[in-house]
Amino acid sequence: MTTIALIGPGAIGGTVAAWLAQDPTIAVTVCARTPFDDLQVETPQGLITAKPKIITNPADGTPVDWVLIATKTYDADATKPWLDHLVADHTRVAIIQNGVEHERLFSHLVPADRIVPVIINLPAARSAPGRIAQHRHGIISVPAGTNGEDFAALFATTEIEAAAHADFVSQAWLKLTGNAIAIVPSLTLRATGPVWNADLESVVRGVVEECAAVGRAEGATIPAEFVEEIIERSRTMAEGSSAGSLHADRLAGHPMEVDARNGVIVRLGAKHGIPTPMNKVLVTLLSASGAPWIDGTRH
Ligand SMILES: NC(=O)c1ccc[n+]([C@@H]2O[C@H](COP(=O)([O-])OP(=O)(O)OC[C@H]3O[C@@H](n4cnc5c(N)ncnc54)[C@H](OP(=O)(O)O)[C@@H]3O)[C@@H](O)[C@H]2O)c1
Repeated sequence: MTTIALIGPGAIGGTVAAWLAQDPTIAVTVCARTPFDDLQVETPQGLITAKPKIITNPADGTPVDWVLIATKTYDADATKPWLDHLVADHTRVAIIQNGVEHERLFSHLVPADRIVPVIINLPAARSAPGRIAQHRHGIISVPAGTNGEDFAALFATTEIEAAAHADFVSQAWLKLTGNAIAIVPSLTLRATGPVWNADLESVVRGVVEECAAVGRAEGATIPAEFVEEIIERSRTMAEGSSAGSLHADRLAGHPMEVDARNGVIVRLGAKHGIPTPMNKVLVTLLSASGAPWIDGTRH
């Protein structure tokens, strides 16, 4: 029996836990901040349900083979009390979050050789604790190597497609390049398509091209056509369509992953001597937008 503890049973964590719990050779424990009884996930394959062990007190955790972390990036440090009880010498820790800094965020909490950074393409939303809608087929990317391959193998019997990639850096930066533009609708509070013009295009283009340039300096392959595809997606973004989690979190008055998604472009750009003026301005404006919390820091 493989033992897994999932910290952060939100949209992503709840979906992943429910799929893994379908496998009789896996024992899933859910480590929750807000208690609930069971998981019900509407997936493209229909409703899946699971009744894993759910704990809310870190002291009730015991060492497991795998810890999966699916909190927002700004809650990384809040996982420490859980990790203190769940991680033994053999435990590997998979970080399922957006961004490109999985290792940096957890380097003071988990030994580097046991961290598995995970990029997930799986749009999902939570309507209540334990109640989730998975909107499309899920795809997981991890780095090549024993840890990544062992992690991908956990999903063998699920409908989530998991693969280890020799060029994981590109996987992570392609996702970030696609996500970077979400800062624009999170500031304007509306879709970009209906208000598209040359000036808005230069803003969107600046955000995406800066991200691609920094990603390339970090070793990622980001084709010029991919950048154009992302800009085209922004040009055709329909009113009322989901403008992403930054937007949703801002509207809800929640913290936002703005540092993990755009602040990182500015920080790593500075490291490489690459100017990132568009991301810097938008990060500054969003930070000053009145949202009470940015990345966990009260401003
Ligand atoms: N949703 C998507 O479509 C999607 C797609 C791809 C990638 N991602 C990325 O996946 C990550 C997770 O996003 P999400 O949408 O799943 O977020 P979410 O729905 O807000 O879920 C986060 C979960 O973490 C829990 N949590 C926070 N601190 C905790 C702690 N100390 N102990 C236990 N649980 C804790 C929250 O608890 P509460 O229940 O109390 O809120 C919540 O259940 C993010 O990096 C996001 O960018 C999301």
